[in-house]
Amino acid sequence: MAGSGRLAGKVCLVMGGGSSHPEGGFSNGQACAITYAREGARVVVADLREEAAAATVAEIARRGGEATATACDVTKSDEVKAVVDTIVDTHGRLDVLHNNVGIEQLGSAIDTPEEAWDRVHEVNIKSVFLAAKHAVPVMAAQGGGSIINISSTASLRWGGVSFLAYNSSKAALNHMSRIIAREHAGAKVRVNVVIPGMIDTPHIRTLYKHLSPDELADKLMERDAKCPMGRQGTCWDVANAALFFASDDAAYVTGAQLLVDGGLSI
Ligand SMILES: NC(=O)c1ccc[n+]([C@@H]2O[C@H](COP(=O)([O-])OP(=O)(O)OC[C@H]3O[C@@H](n4cnc5c(N)ncnc54)[C@H](O)[C@@H]3O)[C@@H](O)[C@H]2O)c1
Repeated sequence: MAGSGRLAGKVCLVMGGGSSHPEGGFSNGQACAITYAREGARVVVADLREEAAAATVAEIARRGGEATATACDVTKSDEVKAVVDTIVDTHGRLDVLHNNVGIEQLGSAIDTPEEAWDRVHEVNIKSVFLAAKHAVPVMAAQGGGSIINISSTASLRWGGVSFLAYNSSKAALNHMSRIIAREHAGAKVRVNVVIPGMIDTPHIRTLYKHLSPDELADKLMERDAKCPMGRQGTCWDVANAALFFASDDAAYVTGAQLLVDGGLSI
């Protein structure tokens, strides 16, 4: 791996570091885990599906990096605690917590089922609260750490399609991140948010799986055209922003929200 050692000596936990659709390129979570390892971190990849975490770890190993895989449902407090405890037992510290997990649900206030609303908020926002609950004490005790939360421009603006529960959960994530940042700034636990715009990931392509190859190509061109820079973002654009927050280059940066949207939200 040809990194510059920006995370040398650090231990990083990536929640949701697998890919929900492993064919067709890397997910945001995978790109972040690979980038952290490339920069010298020891990475723990956690995912609901252990095989998804293992696939990311295999990719990191193939590139010469160091990572381990673990199963974890981020909505279960005991499972999140167990992952954090194991990291502390194994590595003696936890420097970076990266919360990537996010699910969406189509629907407006009228047609979003109540259970779906609850599930989206449980997965997208309660999970980040639980991870902070268990990771912040470890980070505070060791003299600091960095928490990186993956939001979306859906937290800021109407995106043209009804995703009310997703919009709401990501907006809550932005503000919760600032409050956690403020509360633990004195302990040097930094909390920052990456706000991706339209990113061309395998998961996004599955939203269009009903389309023919030609129709899919048209749809992707349409998405590119909606972006002021003329292209969708890539998982590496997200990972590069996350790397800044993870590294000591961001030692005095907390409570920030970094748009990675090619100007989409302007
Ligand atoms: N692609 C885009 O256009 C875009 C835009 C803005 C924001 N985002 C955000 O990016 C993040 C996801 O990106 P991705 O490409 O990695 O998606 P992905 O769906 O490929 O990966 C998410 C991973 O999370 C795992 N997961 C799901 N539920 C879980 C749970 N309860 N516990 C543990 N793991 C769980 C899945 O198994 C999967 O491996 C989300 O937060 C999403 O909101 C994406």
